[in-house]
Amino acid sequence: AGALHGVVALDGPSGTGKTTVARKLAAALGAGYLDTGAMYRVVTLAVLREGIDPDDSVAVAAFAGHVEVGVGTDPARPRARLGGEDVGEQIRAERVNGAVSAVSAVPAVRELLVTGQREIIASVLRSVGGIVVDGRDIGTVVAPDAPLKVYLTASAEVRAARRSAQDSAAGRTLTAEQALASVDRRDTLDSTRKTSPMRPAEDAVVFDTTELTIDQVIVALSELASQRGLLG
Ligand code: DC
Repeated sequence: AGALHGVVALDGPSGTGKTTVARKLAAALGAGYLDTGAMYRVVTLAVLREGIDPDDSVAVAAFAGHVEVGVGTDPARPRARLGGEDVGEQIRAERVNGAVSAVSAVPAVRELLVTGQREIIASVLRSVGGIVVDGRDIGTVVAPDAPLKVYLTASAEVRAARRSAQDSAAGRTLTAEQALASVDRRDTLDSTRKTSPMRPAEDAVVFDTTELTIDQVIVALSELASQRGLLG
């Protein structure tokens, strides 16, 4: 396949394999990669470190502007920084999972991060030409003009199993039930919040990954990109 031109918006709930798919697709198509969830996670980590209650939306909004969020766009090694510190592992901690939906529901946080995301996308489009953007509101809000929007889904059981496999690979131990509860709680909060809730864009291709391997999903998405004339 040729190199990707333009933006692929990849949205959907957690446990669909979205992040792995987005990184591998970006690498396969010679494109950049942006993990917008990592940006919400960095702000959440900073909020927790500061001792701010993540449910105190007024305090979170006032603090958000002081957080220096840094993310890399190389799919081979996506990095996340808070100020100068590499926080790639800490942003995956369970206490961040538990607080990130509340923090990402704060409109001031979203405004700041969406502005940053659009700048990063524009800069990667200028330098590399193509980018795969991983999130919840990429097709609806961040990049509504993206020429390919995909919304990945999977059954709750499969999402919980994938999440639990990720966790045990990272040395954490959640039972399948706990993983399902954690994934479900976050998805309910993310899809019912007032500001840009997680939902497929009207022109998104909704893609069920329950029965598919990561590689099968990547092949299918590369074909879609090719059909849309985005590979050159
Ligand atoms: O993709 P992830 O699991 O790392 O995302 C973490 C949280 O960040 C997710 O529960 C909701 C929020 N998020 C968001 O609100 N908008 C995005 N574009 C990406 C993530």
